[in-house]
Amino acid sequence: MKGASFNRKTGYGNNNRCTILIEGEADHIGVQCLAPMPPSYGIDQSGIRRPPIQRNRIMPYVVTEACINCKHTDCVEVCPVDCFYEGPNFLVIHPDECIDCNACVPVCPVEAIYADDELPEELAHYAEWNTYLANQWQTLGYNITEKKDPLPDAEEWANKEKTEQDILTWEADA
Ligand code: SF4
Ligand code: F3S
Repeated sequence: MKGASFNRKTGYGNNNRCTILIEGEADHIGVQCLAPMPPSYGIDQSGIRRPPIQRNRIMPYVVTEACINCKHTDCVEVCPVDCFYEGPNFLVIHPDECIDCNACVPVCPVEAIYADDELPEELAHYAEWNTYLANQWQTLGYNITEKKDPLPDAEEWANKEKTEQDILTWEADA
């Protein structure tokens, strides 16, 4: 059911399997996913696992870190081709559907969206996350086409440090 995995945080450990952390009141409980990570997952220089690199894909526009835990969704309202896909606390753009129109960039209140050739180096890996998560969330039916309220703590998170490890995802059978 949609929304069932809001309290589940999916990160990636060093054992070729994703680790689901279920947030409890006192601590986090670590459990293993059944599915191994895709074979093309790699470890970058900082030791963080990245999604598969789509080397021959042109990635037009990319949602980045600032969106995490904010989700203002102004962007979906202006997109002429409805190519945004929604996770529990992050949105992504589907690279096969984006028509490169730039309409979403100026409306994002936290400046989370970049053209791929303007991505700051420290955010370059978000191109891969957009491709990877857009395909997953498209399969699960999480296309978003209408603006909704931002997440309750959006203002607070706008000024907090966050990373790709903070991205939440849906359970595969959601
Ligand atoms: Fe949609 Fe245009 Fe933004 Fe691409 S650049 S996601 S088509 S609004
Ligand atoms: Fe995220 Fe900005 Fe859209 S915060 S949901 S990319 S308007």
